Amino acid sequence: MAQQSFHPPVRTLMGPGPSDVNPRVLEAMSRPTIGHLDPVFVGMMDTMKDLLRYAFQTDYELAMPVSAPGSAGMETCFVNLLEPGDKVVVCQNGVFGGCMKENVERCGATAVMVEDTWGKAVDVNKVDETLRANPDAKVLAFVHAETSTGALSDARTLAEIARNHDCLTIADTVTSLGGSPLNVGAWGLDAVYSGSQKCLSCTPGLSPVTFSERAIELIRNRSTRVQSWFLDLNLVLGYWGGGGKRAYHHTAPINALYGLHEALIVLQEEGIENAWQRHTDNHLALRAGIEAMGLSFVVDEADRLPQLNSVTIPEGVDDAAVRARLLNDYNLEIGAGLGPMAGKIWRIGLMGYASNRSNVLLCLGALDAVLAGMKAPIKAGVAVEAAMDAYT
Ligand SMILES: Cc1ncc(COP(=O)(O)O)c(C=O)c1O
Repeated sequence: MAQQSFHPPVRTLMGPGPSDVNPRVLEAMSRPTIGHLDPVFVGMMDTMKDLLRYAFQTDYELAMPVSAPGSAGMETCFVNLLEPGDKVVVCQNGVFGGCMKENVERCGATAVMVEDTWGKAVDVNKVDETLRANPDAKVLAFVHAETSTGALSDARTLAEIARNHDCLTIADTVTSLGGSPLNVGAWGLDAVYSGSQKCLSCTPGLSPVTFSERAIELIRNRSTRVQSWFLDLNLVLGYWGGGGKRAYHHTAPINALYGLHEALIVLQEEGIENAWQRHTDNHLALRAGIEAMGLSFVVDEADRLPQLNSVTIPEGVDDAAVRARLLNDYNLEIGAGLGPMAGKIWRIGLMGYASNRSNVLLCLGALDAVLAGMKAPIKAGVAVEAAMDAYT
């Protein structure tokens, strides 16, 4: 039998990412493919770099998308900054700090871990003590917005502490970029990576990165070759770097880059501070509904991410059954817990284009109906109203 074209259902994506893609992004991606060395394309790349600087709030010369997902942005930071024998202080308060540790070790470097309870922000005092005890540490690595738990860490203070100890910083901003205040330049972060599929509401598969002059200098003066040919910035910059001349390194994902360009234009049109505020406003309305139902948040209020809401699953409720009902009956995706939080929490994303009033009301209404139908211990029929009140 001949195979058929694939037509996915239309879902509302309120999980930990990917988020709903802005239709403007999908339209941009369907424009004609041109060569990746075509002068018109090269002009678009220059605009993209400016737009990324705006999104990251920096004037660092190096700002570009790595042609692969957030994990490749992470790897780009580690493989370029580290050499065998280096020491890195890695903060872990969820899944992604663990990925950082893996990266450090695979570079032949040593990871000194600062562990915090999942759901809490990184403890800056512990980081300071650890750097004091490890004066030979070269890099401090941390996750700004931990998607596995919904906790935001204080990137500005962490960068300041790192500087005081003569350390560079690697910061994961996959979930924070475009959703929570992030000022790469003013905070002096050194190697920063993100993802296209969260608060930028582009399709998955690209990883915006930006590097400080300090970081570039270190990369240029390495004594060993970067272990990855594909991610070696000394080579990639031959294509993405300035100076007008572009050398072939790999074939850029041209139409995907049109999409990212459009997503960044959308962000610029809205204004980054307005985007941050929108994420907060929708989070507050969702929170009002969740709490009216009698459900509680995992993360302390001060450290809560507006774009990733971790909610404790009520006693006796079947996590998978609820998510299946939401998906099958409402075309609504919310996220499950990861690792030690599997089965214990739901992760409700309000990221980028998906962070809007209709989605907040849809999610609360659907969750309310599904939980009430299962006789879960919640206060039914009040969540949507509570969210509406929060908006007014
Ligand atoms: C905080 C964080 N870091 C890194 C990643 C990895 O990104 P990707 O899945 O695009 O490789 C993710 C993905 O969810 C993430 O949330």
